[in-house]
Parts: sequence; structure tokens; C-alpha cells
Amino acid sequence: MPILAFVGNKGGVGKTTLCVNLAAALNARAPTILLDADPQASALQWAELGGGRALRVVGAVGAVGGLDEAIAAAARDYTYVLVDCPPSVHAAQTRQALGRADVALVPVLPSPFDIWASVHAEAEIQSARTGNPALRAFLVVNQLEPRTRLSNLMCRALAELSLPVAATAIRRRVVYRDAVLVGGSVGAVGKKGAAAAEEIEALIHEVLSP
Ligand SMILES: Nc1ncnc2c1ncn2[C@@H]1O[C@H](COP(=O)(O)OP(=O)(O)O)[C@@H](O)[C@H]1O
Ligand SMILES: [Mg+2]
Repeated sequence: MPILAFVGNKGGVGKTTLCVNLAAALNARAPTILLDADPQASALQWAELGGGRALRVVGAVGAVGGLDEAIAAAARDYTYVLVDCPPSVHAAQTRQALGRADVALVPVLPSPFDIWASVHAEAEIQSARTGNPALRAFLVVNQLEPRTRLSNLMCRALAELSLPVAATAIRRRVVYRDAVLVGGSVGAVGKKGAAAAEEIEALIHEVLSP
């Protein structure tokens, strides 16, 4: 029952985009639940538009007994539990999610400022490991421009962090935005989502293999 937390100290980096697309892809394998722990409730809105179809998406901001309890309960009933966290690593929801997660994914935009901002996430993940020593964590480069590579400067900035960087980078693709409007994931929009769906599968394979 892997628990995945999507965390970061900034909004707009792709936590929800990665969370809903990984959730939809995982739900095709085994029962999956997405806990929306961000007061902005973007994942819930996505679900209301029809996103993910068979996927269960529930609000977990005001969960009775706290997010902690909600995650534990979800893990009893679902194979995969994904938690979309608010844009602060110091928020109670993020801390609780990191306390329970098997894997934390920290999306970063390919800009040195965004990469440096991930230092906060790195520190919070380190401290979560005191109570949750098995927690694995990856930075995931998101919105990489098609046909470009990370610049040397960005590679240097990434190397300054102790978190490993997922080998699978997620490219900037219009389909990540469009898929939301048609109420689904990149895996549910056919051929125009094929390349994106492939990178989502590659990321799943990378972060969930032991
Ligand atoms: N790989 C991508 N390609 C294109 N647009 C993206 C990509 N990732 C995120 N976006 C867009 O960027 C914006 C912010 O993403 P979002 O997932 O809401 O970030 P967060 O949850 O971290 O605030 C959204 O409009 C989303 O559609
Ligand atoms: Mg979000």
C-alpha cells in the first residue's frame, strides 16, 4: 500500500498536476484514492469536472481525526494513496503526509530560483525521517521545455540539494492543461496524451520500484 505525498514550498510547480495524473494511472492498476489536503481544493475541482472517472478523490483538509487518520484509514482500503499537499512544507497537512508517506515527490520548475526554494522541502523531509525513516523522496523536474535540457547552472543547483532528482523529467506540454478541461488525465485523452502518459508511467516505475 504505497502512500505518495506531493509536496513543495511553492504554488504553481505542478503538485496537483502530477498528483492527479499519477493517481489516474495508478488507478488503472489497483484501487487508488487521492486525498486532497490543499485548502485550494484543485484536485477536488478536477474530480468534479469528471477527472479520473473511477478514481476516488476526497477532501482531507478538515478530516475528522486529522489527515494522519485519513491517510491511515485510506491505506486500509486502497492499494495506492496519493496526498496532494498545500504549497507550504511547514503546513500541518504536509508534515502529517510526510510522517506517513512511503514516497515524497517534490516538483520543481527548471529554474535556479525554484530549485533553491526546494531547500525548505529538503529540510522538512529530513526531519520527517526521524519518525518515518523509510521515507523516500525525489525532486521531479516539471515543465521542462520540449527539446531543451537542463542548463549547467540548473544541474549545479540541483546537485547542491541532497534529495535525488528523478531521472524522469516531466516536460511542459499543453495536454497537461487540456486534459484537466476535458475532465481527465493525460492517459485518458488518447493519442495527443500519449507522450505525456508515457513519462507519467516512467516516473511511476522509477519512484515505486524498490
Ligand atoms: N508539465 C506541465 N506542462 C504544462 N502545464 C503544466 C505542467 N505542469 C503543470 N502545469 C500547469 O501549471 C499550473 C500549475 O500547476 P499545478 O499542478 O496547479 O501546481 P501546484 O499544485 O503546485 O500549485 C497549472 O495551470 C497546470 O495546468
Ligand atoms: Mg495544487
